[in-house]
Amino acid sequence: MTNKLKYFIANWKMYGDLKSIKSLNKVIKFAKSFKNTSFKMVYCPPFTLMHPLSIKLKKTKISLGAQNCHTSSEYGAFTGSVNAKMIKNLGAKFVILGHSENRIAGETDNIIKKKILSAVKENLIVIFCIGETNLQKRQKKTFQVLRKQILSCLKGIKKNTKIIVAYEPVWSIGTGNIPKNSDIDKNINFIKKILKKNINFKNPKVLYGGSVSSKNIRIIDKVKSIDGYLIGGASQNEKKLIDIVKKTYN
Ligand code: 13P
Repeated sequence: MTNKLKYFIANWKMYGDLKSIKSLNKVIKFAKSFKNTSFKMVYCPPFTLMHPLSIKLKKTKISLGAQNCHTSSEYGAFTGSVNAKMIKNLGAKFVILGHSENRIAGETDNIIKKKILSAVKENLIVIFCIGETNLQKRQKKTFQVLRKQILSCLKGIKKNTKIIVAYEPVWSIGTGNIPKNSDIDKNINFIKKILKKNINFKNPKVLYGGSVSSKNIRIIDKVKSIDGYLIGGASQNEKKLIDIVKKTYN
């Protein structure tokens, strides 16, 4: 059994309604009773469910996070947007930024950097997503892509900023395809090296995300460099999510 702190971040994406909140009951109970305390669970629901979840998760061991935020942390005339201050005000501690689904929709490194700075200003912990596409992998450009994403979005950021990187190969998200353990390890170690050398992070934390399930977690978790998981599809099912945590620890 490992005692290393591991993160389990549930990214519900654009799923869930008021009924889905019930599914947290089992997970809250599990988190309370689970003997191994070296895990940190975070729920990132869509904005519409953040307030009910903030009430539900109060006094539990589970934290709340958002899936995105505006580049400005100030209030302003930005129809349809939510800023880091508003997220913080709900009691959330985390925010996912730079997700490939938003990059594909037009979010640039420059926009992501501004979002990171606004989140950091509000003292939110940023889960910063990076990863290569299938084409970039085939062209053997993975290191180049990861390096560029890190430098463009984090260069100049203060040393002890609370940022957790999530390595999510784009080709693995929602496809059931996962990289070989040796590739995950190689890429995560590369990310950690860049974070230490170029961003001055002392003890960088890097999660893996992409088709994590209760079926493959035992295999993936053999990679010792992983500090936790960013879980999409499987996180919407309480049984599967609990199973993922349990299997990580025994
Ligand atoms: P899946 O776990 O559904 O592949 O999604 C991963 C992801 O994008 C988490 O942010």
